[in-house]
Amino acid sequence: MPGGVNSPVRAFQSVGGTPLFIKKGKGAEITDEDGNTYIDYCQSWGPLILGHANQKIEQKVIQTIQQGTSFGAPTQLENELAELIVSNHNYIEKIRFVSSGTEAAMSAIRLARGITGKDKVIKFEGCYHGHVDSLLVSAGSGLATFGEASSAGIPQSYVKDTLVLPLNDQEALKKCVAQFKDQIACIAIEPIPANNGLLIQGKEFLQFLRDLCDQTGILLLFDEVISGFRVGFQGAAGYYDIQPDLIAFGKIIGGGFPVGAYASSAKNMAHVAPEGPVYQAGTLSGNPVAMAGGIAQLSQCLAPNFYEDLHEKTKALVDPILAHAKANNYPFFMYHIGSIFWTTYLTDNILSAASQIRKESSTYFKKMHRYLLENGIYVAPSAFEVGFISHTHTRSQIERTAQVFKGGLDFVFKEA
Ligand SMILES: Cc1ncc(COP(=O)(O)O)c(C=O)c1O
Repeated sequence: MPGGVNSPVRAFQSVGGTPLFIKKGKGAEITDEDGNTYIDYCQSWGPLILGHANQKIEQKVIQTIQQGTSFGAPTQLENELAELIVSNHNYIEKIRFVSSGTEAAMSAIRLARGITGKDKVIKFEGCYHGHVDSLLVSAGSGLATFGEASSAGIPQSYVKDTLVLPLNDQEALKKCVAQFKDQIACIAIEPIPANNGLLIQGKEFLQFLRDLCDQTGILLLFDEVISGFRVGFQGAAGYYDIQPDLIAFGKIIGGGFPVGAYASSAKNMAHVAPEGPVYQAGTLSGNPVAMAGGIAQLSQCLAPNFYEDLHEKTKALVDPILAHAKANNYPFFMYHIGSIFWTTYLTDNILSAASQIRKESSTYFKKMHRYLLENGIYVAPSAFEVGFISHTHTRSQIERTAQVFKGGLDFVFKEA
């Protein structure tokens, strides 16, 4: 396997050292092949909102597997999960399941192009939408709006239809839309950008996008692969109460199994085959095992106070660490939205654009990452990745983590 892994960030390249090879997980903890146990704040990069090996998921999935794993034909489980999601989400009317967030974003973009008959897509520097050709484009160095492929192997013909703008910059958007108005199919954004640090947008920026789209006929696509069912059952759309035209969902729907989805109004979804001309298909889409995982996970997320509890737990982690940093004047900042948190260095404020992240932050993070690992805390191996709290993190695990983090700050700033 290239780099020994099946997804690049797992290789620990940005923090150095050897990646942990994980043998098992239970609740908030994971155990590696060497028998070391860690409190896990990666949670498979977000989807495990109920922690590892949740019993209800396990039972439902095992029962389902015993009836067969895939039929390539409609099943009741797909309908149950679709009903569970749509009837508890005010911002969508119809949904199509796929198998990953990448597929969801790719399909939502195709749908936007199919509905509008236009080709160009606006995306933002600092947002990630999976490894879709036309979305692996970052801001170019010259003309602000024309991007550059951020991977080899992407044809220039795809790049030319992707316009890349800074987050939280109304002027840049106005200019870009004025220039390309009749060619733009959609504006794609992670409404809570969580792939290049946690770049929280004010509601006014998201509302500005909504208004601009209303005025121009451009469709607004919220990529809620991270925020969906995470900051609340209705994701960022519900959190900010902003109605996007299209939503892409991802991994959290599957409870640890490969699921993504895209969703919209019934009218927009009528463009998708077989109802309409926008083709999109998948042999394992909506397979019963993944649907069972999703039903078992999302039905537990609907429990009263589920999201409030997660928020409180996350606050209980962030507050003491931040207080320690402040008391010692360490150039460190930590913040959260719901149960998503992020740590960064050389700043004392919530950031809202990729350009605000200080490059040297990675050097501090690398030291901290090593310290945390050595003290039984696992966070994603990159300064730009966020952390996640699951329902199963206990108060004592959180307290212990806060203690270790404080020691880590002392280590990074005093002793190193
Ligand atoms: C916002 C966002 N969109 C899309 C994706 C791609 O999802 P996947 O890795 O399941 O293809 C990710 C992955 O983390 C993501 O965070």
